[in-house]
Formats: sequence, C-alpha cells, structure tokens
Amino acid sequence: MSRRAFQLVTALNVFLLSLIVVSGGVVRLSGSGLGCPTWPQCGDGSFTPHSEYALHGAIEFGNRLVGLVVGAVVLITPLMALRLRGGRRRDLTRLSFGLWLGYLGQAVLGGITVLTKLHPATVAAHFLLSMVLLWNAVVLDRRARQGAGQVTPAVAPALLWLARLLVVVSAGVLVLGTVVTGTGPHSGDSEHPARFGFDIVNVSQLHADGAMLLTGLVAAMAFAVRVTAAPAAARRESLVLVAVVVAQAGLGFAQYFLGIPSVLVALHMTGATVMWVVALRLWLAMVTRPALTADAATAATTAAPATPIPGTETPAAGVPTSDAPAPDATPTPGAPALPAPAAVPLALGAPRP
Ligand code: HEM
Repeated sequence: MSRRAFQLVTALNVFLLSLIVVSGGVVRLSGSGLGCPTWPQCGDGSFTPHSEYALHGAIEFGNRLVGLVVGAVVLITPLMALRLRGGRRRDLTRLSFGLWLGYLGQAVLGGITVLTKLHPATVAAHFLLSMVLLWNAVVLDRRARQGAGQVTPAVAPALLWLARLLVVVSAGVLVLGTVVTGTGPHSGDSEHPARFGFDIVNVSQLHADGAMLLTGLVAAMAFAVRVTAAPAAARRESLVLVAVVVAQAGLGFAQYFLGIPSVLVALHMTGATVMWVVALRLWLAMVTRPALTADAATAATTAAPATPIPGTETPAAGVPTSDAPAPDATPTPGAPALPAPAAVPLALGAPRP
C-alpha cells in the first residue's frame, strides 16, 4: 500500500468523521431522531425507511448511510496501515485501530441514544465521542505525513503550552455547548424533549464566557506566531482559527438572540466541528518529526533481504543518523533486526505535543 494512498484515506477519515457530526446534527435538529423507530433496522423488519416515516425517516436513513460509508473507510484504514509499502509503523497502526475502537463505541452509543429516546446525556456523549474520534483522525492524518521518530518542538515552549491550552479550552467550550443544547429545546426528541435541569440563561452565559476566553487566546496565538519564528503551517492554522472562532461566536450570539432557529444551530454545530479540527491541527503544527522521506529510506533499509548480497553489506544498522530506524517502526518480517537503542532514549526524552 503506497504512502500516498494511505494519506488520502487518513484525510478522508477527517472529512467523513466531520461530515457525520453534521449529518447527525441535522437528524436531531429536524426532529428525525426517531425517524427510524428501531435500530439497526428502520421500522419492523426493514433496514430501509417505510413511507409512513416519510422525510424524517429519509433523513435518519441518510445519516445511517453516511455512517456506513464512514464505517467502510474506518474499516480499511488499519488494514492499509498494516500493509504500508516499506514497512508498517507502530504509531500509524495504533492510531488506525483507535478509529475502529471509536467507531464501535459510536455505533453502540448511537443505539443507546435511540433506546433512551434521545436523552440529552446520551446525545451529548455521542457528540463528544465524535470529537475524540476526530482527534484520533487528525493526529493520524498528521503522522501519516511525517516520518517516525523524534518529536521536536518547532516553537518556544511558551507557545507550545499556549497551543495545548487552546485545545483544552476548545474542548471545554464544546462540552459547555452540549450542556446548553441539552438544557434547551434541541436537546433531543423534538416533541417530548428530556432536558438537563439547568437554567438556560446561566449555562448559555458560561458557554459564551468560555467562547470569549477562547477568542482571546486565539488572538494571542495569532499574534505570537507572527512575531516569533513559528512554522508557516502554525501561522496559517492560527489565522484560520481566528476566522472560525470569530464566526462561531457571532453565530452563537445570533442564534441565542434569534430564539435558536434550527438552521443557525446546525451551522453552529458545523462551525464547532471545524474549529476543533483546526485547533488540533494548530497544536500539531507546533512540533515536527523527521521528514517522511527519511522514514521511507529507513523503511527501505529495514526491508532489505534477510541474506545480504555479498559485497553490498553496509554498516547502516546501528549508525544513529536521521535515517536510523525509528523506535516505532516495525521491521518487515524476515528482515534483519536493527538495533533500536540509539533511537529509543531520544523518543522517550522528547517532548510530546
Ligand atoms: C468558539 C465559540 C463557540 C463554540 C466552539 C461553540 C460550540 C457549541 C457546541 C459544540 C454546541 C452544542 C451543539 C449541539 O450539540 O448541537 C453549542 C451550542 C450552543 N451555543 Fe455555542 N459555541 C461557541 C460560541 C457560542 C457563543 C458566543 C454563544 C452565545 C450565547 C453560543 C450559544 C450557543 C447556544 C445557545 C447553543 C445551544 C443551541 C441548541 O439549542 O442546540 N455559542 N455551541
């Protein structure tokens, strides 16, 4: 399996896992959550919607179809990671299997959400698990474009901490957002919504306060990456994040004062998903790893024939150059075992994003 094909699939994972958050949101906001009253079937004994469930059934069914496509892509990702040309990499394999785990969790949680008649706690958990799954997918996508091995900060420590703080505060704003939703009319079942018993004004205020804190941090980050020698990717992502967060906050206020119309809420949810992906990408842009070409060279070395051709043996094994075997690169079966100790302390001692 070529690296390029694998990278395409990792990017597709990020896109599709974002898409399903939006399509799932449309299901809830259009009141189609129980459009298919049973799960995994849509009505008694059928996997497709009956005419009696009409539009809601079609929307819910469409969401399940998106879920199937996502499932297919998630399913093939670890299989591709195991068959990567030039040797498999443990980090990519683990992250790929993480997608399986998350997808399975989402399938179970989706079923529980239907069984609990869209209780807000399960609806919120469903959304938040999607964010965890997206985290996994974004990290996998980034790693698939880098070589294995040592992580090096590409910015000053303070900036790296600011990026981490941004991710934490973003996650907090997402959690508070689901609390606001669970307290309001869009909590789940459109006809008889169960709700968290909080005061809607108070939780909205708290959520908006978190968003304001986030806006300040993002502005600080955009400024800091400009005045320091930060990587171009970090500058780019920080600008995108400023735009997304400002638009998102504007949408938040607009929907609050306009009585939370479904269309704006759907846009707000989409914005939240995009913001999360960009915040993660910004954080990942703050550190570097060896270039993929170095890694490919390593893999080629690792995949050398078990019996070296006379006269072609090289002292590469054990030479701690940038092409040295990465600690998390699994040698191709049958290849000579390359000593990893030279690389291991580097990886253990290296700061992680
Ligand atoms: C970066 C800024 C923001 C982010 C990332 C964000 C994120 C979210 C998320 C994830 C939800 C839950 C979506 C769902 O489960 O349907 C939500 C709901 C909500 N947010 Fe925000 N939000 C932001 C800013 C704001 C602001 C400034 C306000 C202003 C009051 C606001 C008002 C609301 C309201 C009213 C809801 C409930 C909508 C509903 O009934 O479903 N948000 N937000």
